[in-house]
Amino acid sequence: MILTLSQLAVIAATPLLVSAVPSVEVRQAQKVTVDFTKKYQTIDGFGFSGAFQRANLVVNLKEPKQTELLNLLFNTTSGAGFSIVRNGIGSSQDSSKDYMNTILPKCPATPDGTPDYKWDGKDSGQLWLSQQAVKYGVKTFYGNAWSAPGCMKSNNNDANGGMLCGISGASCTKGDWKQAYANYLIKWAQLYGENGVKITHLGFLNEPDYTTSYASMQSNGNQAAEFIKVLRPSLDKANMTDVGINCCEATGWSVASQHASQIASSGAENMVYAITSHEYTSRISGTMRTTRRVWQTEYSDLNGGWSTAWYSNGGSGDGFTWANTVFNGVVNSNLSAYVFWEGVQDRATNNNNNEKLILVDGQNYVVSKRLWAFAQFRVVRPGALRIGASGGSNLKSSAFVNVDGSVAVVIINSGTGTQSVSIALSGSTLTSPTVKAWYTDNTHDMTAVDVTVAADGTATASVTGRGMISFLFTPGAATVPPV
Ligand SMILES: *[C@@H]1O[C@H](CO)[C@@H](O)[C@H](O)[C@H]1NC(C)=O
Ligand SMILES: *[C@@H]1O[C@H](CO)[C@@H](O)[C@H](O)[C@H]1NC(C)=O
Ligand SMILES: *[C@@H]1O[C@H](CO)[C@@H](O)[C@H](O)[C@H]1NC(C)=O
Repeated sequence: MILTLSQLAVIAATPLLVSAVPSVEVRQAQKVTVDFTKKYQTIDGFGFSGAFQRANLVVNLKEPKQTELLNLLFNTTSGAGFSIVRNGIGSSQDSSKDYMNTILPKCPATPDGTPDYKWDGKDSGQLWLSQQAVKYGVKTFYGNAWSAPGCMKSNNNDANGGMLCGISGASCTKGDWKQAYANYLIKWAQLYGENGVKITHLGFLNEPDYTTSYASMQSNGNQAAEFIKVLRPSLDKANMTDVGINCCEATGWSVASQHASQIASSGAENMVYAITSHEYTSRISGTMRTTRRVWQTEYSDLNGGWSTAWYSNGGSGDGFTWANTVFNGVVNSNLSAYVFWEGVQDRATNNNNNEKLILVDGQNYVVSKRLWAFAQFRVVRPGALRIGASGGSNLKSSAFVNVDGSVAVVIINSGTGTQSVSIALSGSTLTSPTVKAWYTDNTHDMTAVDVTVAADGTATASVTGRGMISFLFTPGAATVPPV
């Protein structure tokens, strides 16, 4: 196309007009007020799993890609800064397909017989991945069995449902295996401990409302309570008083809520650390009736074809969609932890869907924006207390006080235009804080952005439309007290 002189003149003039628009928007900053008098739940962290041998994809990567990938997952300044690793406690005879091999391939003849544990020092790649996580400062390791070994179950198989023998409702003629299963879980945790990884939480069920061809074991909340009453004193006797029991990994929020009420009515609520739910069969909404902490421990987009988009019209694999999902769980449903399903997966599995954060394709990897949605939450460290945050239109705001006294503010801009955001810390004891901010959108991944701090301490930075911004206020140098 050949342009006339007058057309060229229009083009030359255009940038001036366009550039005037954002600066007008930036002047009208939207104010978000952080309220320290409103105190909500304590945050345990954010994480992912390397179960089903996916951890091996990282083990098998060559340098420098291996370290790059570990940084993407665990680094608190350049990656997602994940703080929880959920490991599958294997129950299968081998590690083919999606199986995870057990440390007890053969049970003793009777429940009180001496178990012949076999430790392969790998645990489907999960031990190595956990050891790397320790180096990055990760302290929360959740060991989660999908099932007891088949030899302890009503159906003699770790797959296809069935129940733990000894639980009411299980039809078994081989005795009560509750204590043997508790000992087995404790042994697994001790093996990790001996290898430098302290297991902090244990779960003994996965999706007990779903029977499938890989490891699965049925249970309702009342039946789970029967086992919890054996596991808790067994952990205490093994000097593992600080290991929390999580239960029961329901396929969705409504079943998890049933589990919570059944565990409470069975008198085992105070023996549980967290009620755990997935989000597949029913999404998280409202708050669960429990005195325990609540964790979302497994969810992903199982249907969408591999997508690395931040925003593509609200697609189920979009980073922006996941930012909202995690935000909703933490802010509207009182979650103390949000754990994604697989951290990494290959191209071949499940037609290269979105159930992973990072695609590991042979010796290469591709990062999805879902990872960066989680990275925006990395300013919220384990032990943080959620506090009040409100204000601004089209802004979803959340605020947290970290254990070190720093204040994290995580905001989603639901609007389509660039927005300047001002954060006022009302009632803060932070003196002359240093403020940093990072944002993610279609073309940025937790990229540092300039912050202006006013004399009254209000911090202002800009975030693009459908972007996400995280602020971190760290205490300034201590003022010298008057003599
Ligand atoms: C995290 O990333 C930063 C920036 O690349 C790097 O300097 C630091 O060494 C990394 N931390 C760890 C524990 O590897
Ligand atoms: C637990 O700790 C106590 C005190 O340190 C010790 O005497 C006991 O042997 C330990 N028990 C186990 C099972 O490790
Ligand atoms: C939120 O969870 C905590 C436990 O972490 C619980 O004490 C509190 O009652 C819950 N709040 C609501 C509104 O459910």
